[in-house]
Amino acid sequence: MQRNVRDANLARSPSRLVVAVTGASGSALALELLRWLREATDWELHVVVSAAALRTARLELGVGREAFAALADAMYANKDIGASIASGSFATLGMVVIPCSMNTLAAIAHGLGDTLIARAADVTLKERRRLVLVPRETPLNLIHLRNMTAVTEAGAVVAPPVPAFYLGELTPQRLVQQIAMRVASLFGVAPAPWAQWTGEE
Ligand SMILES: Cc1cc2nc3c(=O)[nH]c(=O)nc-3n(C[C@H](O)[C@H](O)[C@H](O)COP(=O)(O)O)c2cc1C
Repeated sequence: MQRNVRDANLARSPSRLVVAVTGASGSALALELLRWLREATDWELHVVVSAAALRTARLELGVGREAFAALADAMYANKDIGASIASGSFATLGMVVIPCSMNTLAAIAHGLGDTLIARAADVTLKERRRLVLVPRETPLNLIHLRNMTAVTEAGAVVAPPVPAFYLGELTPQRLVQQIAMRVASLFGVAPAPWAQWTGEE
């Protein structure tokens, strides 16, 4: 009987994904991922965009906060460290930071919780949920590499936005789609053929 009640509660709880966007280059990756998840899943998308990410998005795409808000079920300010996603009791499928700046990578690697993005990532790790970081920087210094090692040891998946060059003509649009799909596949959802190699013809 108790089991049935618990199952019913589980069945009712929505699938939620936290999507954090930080100030590394590549805002288009975040928008593409959000766009696709909105279309292809019924997941609730909980979105946080850092101040630096807004600056980068404005520069790279000429868009502002509203472009992200239009694709989100809930939007949070990065300084709102009391938001629902700052608590482990708020059940989620996990969290992705796309793109992930070296600044936010460092904060996560060192367990900081002074921004909502860092706190939500820390919570995702402590709850043993999936945390995917899409760090964009090149070249990498030893601090970046050590921070990537630290987050990997803590359970995160580090997935740099590196395209596969064997999947046909790589226009900028296809490159962005391919990387976004690869990230989606890390959460168990992804369409063919972007992220898949199905063998040589
Ligand atoms: C146009 C622009 C491009 C940037 N590109 C990168 C980048 O590719 N990788 C990175 O780690 N930081 C990059 N930065 C620097 C970050 O935005 C900066 O470190 C910021 O403090 C990150 O804050 P956040 O982690 O809260 O988003 C860039 C900044 C600007 C203005």
